[in-house]
Amino acid sequence: MSADAQKRAAAARALDFVRPGMKLGLGTGSTARHFVELLGERVRGGLRVVGVPTSEATRADAERCGVPLTTLDETPALDLTVDGADEIAPDFTLIKGGGGALLREKIVAVASAQMVVIADESKWVGTLGRFPLPIEVLPFGLGATRRAIEGAMTDLDLSGAITPRRGKDGHVFVTDGGHWILDAALERIVDPGALALKLAAIPGVMGHGLFIGIARVAILAGPNGVRVVERP
Ligand code: A5P
Repeated sequence: MSADAQKRAAAARALDFVRPGMKLGLGTGSTARHFVELLGERVRGGLRVVGVPTSEATRADAERCGVPLTTLDETPALDLTVDGADEIAPDFTLIKGGGGALLREKIVAVASAQMVVIADESKWVGTLGRFPLPIEVLPFGLGATRRAIEGAMTDLDLSGAITPRRGKDGHVFVTDGGHWILDAALERIVDPGALALKLAAIPGVMGHGLFIGIARVAILAGPNGVRVVERP
């Protein structure tokens, strides 16, 4: 099975968690896109649900697939969010934001009674950090914000390159919220909770890709099939 087929298999299994009438958070990324497409097939078959997209890209996908949409202003409490991840640790701490939608993804996931993560097995790791941690920042005061992030890392004995993200066109990547992203190559984040607290205390940091205590279920697809893991 190709990596893409594994992603689709994980997305298909997540449909088992969807019930008629549910208000859904719709994730961003290649795995979440499979879920939106498969959900759209169910909607066209008569399933009644409504979704909140976590990015403009997902909004476009959902509209193309015929999934009815709402907003967190109209519908502030959701039943279930289904989203991908860049890394999943055994305690269900995640790194997200490889697709640049981390801030909306976290807002939507936290507004949901449950978050189910869908991924191929390569995303399941012993310790977070091999995937660079996305940190969403306000462009204003970037130098000072970056210095504060470096200070937070030093306090926690973390080091690694901090790189402003660029898009495929070579220009600076701008999030749907108009912010920039710094990718921090930390290699091993031994204490994600401590890092999350320090980052959250920096005024120019709009969000970071550590999702702690949010996801309860992971659906992981590998060459030998799909497994569903629940948070201990
Ligand atoms: C989007 O901002 C991310 O959080 C994605 O959910 C994450 O990068 C996983 O993406 P893929 O499903 O494309 O691997």
